[in-house]
Amino acid sequence: MEVGEQAKELIKLVGSKENISNTKFITVASGKGGVGKTNFAVNFAYVLSNVYNKKVLLVDADMGMANVHILVNVDTKKTLKDIISGVPVEEVIFTTRGIDILPGFSGIDMLEEVEESSVLRLVQSLDDISKNYDYIIIDTGAGIDNRIVSFIKASSKTYVITTPEPTAIIDAYALIKSVKKIFGYSEFRIVVNMVKNRNEGFDTFEKLKNSAKKFLEIDLSLLGILPNTKNMKKSVKNKQLIAEIYPSDDFVRELKVIASSELGEPPPPEKTRFWEKVVNLLRRD
Ligand SMILES: Nc1ncnc2c1ncn2[C@@H]1O[C@H](COP(=O)(O)OP(=O)(O)OP(=O)(O)O)[C@@H](O)[C@H]1O
Ligand SMILES: [Mg+2]
Repeated sequence: MEVGEQAKELIKLVGSKENISNTKFITVASGKGGVGKTNFAVNFAYVLSNVYNKKVLLVDADMGMANVHILVNVDTKKTLKDIISGVPVEEVIFTTRGIDILPGFSGIDMLEEVEESSVLRLVQSLDDISKNYDYIIIDTGAGIDNRIVSFIKASSKTYVITTPEPTAIIDAYALIKSVKKIFGYSEFRIVVNMVKNRNEGFDTFEKLKNSAKKFLEIDLSLLGILPNTKNMKKSVKNKQLIAEIYPSDDFVRELKVIASSELGEPPPPEKTRFWEKVVNLLRRD
C-alpha cells in the first residue's frame, strides 16, 4: 500500500474511533483571512475549559503562519513536525490557562515523504491523546486548500467565521460551496465576528443563509454574533486573552452563550472573585 493510501486508511480508523470516545472535533475556518479565527479559537477553548470544565486540546493547524502560541504568549520549541521525527506527543503539547495546545503543524505537507512507520506513529499518537479530551478545536488558516478540507471533513462540526464585510461573506460562501459541492459536507455553524450591533450580525447571517439555501440547498445555522471590541486589541497587545482579563466583555459573554449551545448546558453562575472584579473594573479606562 502507498503511504498516501495507508495514511487515508489510518485517518478512516481514527475517524471511526471519534464516535466511540465521544471526543468532539471542531474545525474553525473562514474564507477570508484576518476575520478573527485564532482569537475565537483560543478564547473559545479557554471558556470551554475554564467555565465549563471541559478537557480541551487546541491544535494550531495554520500551516506556515502558526500563531496560537504567540497569542497565549508561550515560547514553543517543538511542533507537530517533531512528533513525526519521534518526539513523544506529551513533549510537544504545552498547557496554559487550563488549555492543552499542540503548536505549529508546519510540515504536515511532508506527509507523503515521510516513512510509513512515522506516519503510523503520528496517527497513533494523535489518536491516543484524542481520547483524553472532550473537545479538540482546530484553528486553520484562511481559504480552502486540501489540508483545510481534510480537517473539515474529519470534524463533526465546522465553525465558519465571517465579518459583515461583503468580501468576508462572499469568501465564507465560497468555502461552504466548495466543501458541500465536492464532498457533500454541510455541518457548518456560522459565527459573525466584529459586528457594530446585533442587527448587523443578523443581516450578515441572513445574506449567507439565503445564498446557501437558494444555491446549495443547505440550511445554515447561526452559532453566534460577536461584537467588535476595543478590549480585544488591548488583550492581544498585552499578550493576554480577552476571556481571561475581561470576562464581562460582551465578546466573552457571547462566547459563553456559544459554548452553552454547543454543550447543550446552561452557563454556570459567574464565579468572579471579589478582587478579580475590582481589578477588572480598574482596568476599564
Ligand atoms: N471581535 C473583535 N473585535 C476587535 N478586534 C478583533 C475581533 N476579533 C478579532 N479581532 C482582531 O482582528 C485581527 C485578526 O484576528 P485573528 O488573528 O484572530 O484572525 P484570523 O482569522 O485568525 O487571521 P488569519 O486568517 O491570518 O489566521 C487581530 O488583530 C484581532 O485582534
Ligand atoms: Mg489565524
